[in-house]
Amino acid sequence: MKTVEWAEDKIRIIDQTRLPGEQVFLELDSYDAVAVAIKEMRIRGAPALGIVAAYAMALGAQRIEAETREEFLAQLHRIGEVLAATRPTAVNLFRAVERLEAAAVGESVAEIRSGLIGEARRIEAEEAEANRRMGALGAGLIEDGFTVLTHCNAGALATVSYGTALGVVRAAVEQGKRVHVFATETRPLLQGARLTAWELSQEGIPVTLIADTMTGHFLSRERINCVVVGADRIAANGDVANKIGTYNIAVLAAENSVPFYVAAPTSTIDLSVASGAEIPIEERSPEEVTHIQGVRIAPPGVEAANPAFDVTPHRYVSAIITENGIVGEPYVERLRKITGQRGGRHG
Ligand code: MRU
Repeated sequence: MKTVEWAEDKIRIIDQTRLPGEQVFLELDSYDAVAVAIKEMRIRGAPALGIVAAYAMALGAQRIEAETREEFLAQLHRIGEVLAATRPTAVNLFRAVERLEAAAVGESVAEIRSGLIGEARRIEAEEAEANRRMGALGAGLIEDGFTVLTHCNAGALATVSYGTALGVVRAAVEQGKRVHVFATETRPLLQGARLTAWELSQEGIPVTLIADTMTGHFLSRERINCVVVGADRIAANGDVANKIGTYNIAVLAAENSVPFYVAAPTSTIDLSVASGAEIPIEERSPEEVTHIQGVRIAPPGVEAANPAFDVTPHRYVSAIITENGIVGEPYVERLRKITGQRGGRHG
């Protein structure tokens, strides 16, 4: 099963808001339908956002009616702006939009259009390959019999297949190691309970679901051998923006001498931001906190805050696992080396 699939005149995604209860596939036939699906979290996870945004640019380009090349490019730019305005934290989304704009070259509009589809396909293929490579490298950190704590969903559903943090687990299992995963439920939107628990159960990888509040307890009882999470954006100094609650886990892991690993493709590293303080944090609707799956749990009228991500300072990050290698401190030099980015706009 692919999280996102190009189907010529539409983009097919699995609706992640309906999992695990139902497997519903959506056929999105316009770039603004994709923008709405992103906002509504029907598709989510940093690499998946990049891939679907790339295909949405390619799809939007098929429908552009323009007299001149300039007009065509101006309209393509506006499509990119609509997509970039959906969610602010995952850098993969912005990088994909920029890549598609840069790929809009060719003699004719037809040539540009097919070039855009090619570029989107390349992004998908690169992400799939990066997942496999980071999985193979990261699996070296997982020993037979390990229990791994993860947060949110950094699995196949957050990419196109395989996954980043869960890709590391999958690769370790493929190597014949016995691995048990502790998955946090991940309030407010329950990506851990709904998506990670589903993905792992489907594959027969043992998983224990815990409430977010239980992480300190299990990290202090020597039950967890390491933490592996994904990332939405990694700053030049190694600070990591990931799902809200990741920072709590990182501090508790350090307190209990449990290694804290971040698995992310180099497409998630953004050398144009010096530290995590510069990473925009998405603020979502308070209703996601006052309600659980549409059911009110808080008194009417109560105020609620809902930042979707937090930043884990690099001093808590034992290592970052990428497709180009596993790096530790000093992150500034090492991230530059493995990404080859020079620090321009989004690298
Ligand atoms: O709000 P979400 O569900 O898009 O947040 C996703 C995460 O925080 C993931 O950990 C991250 O995008 C990495 S996915 C490989």
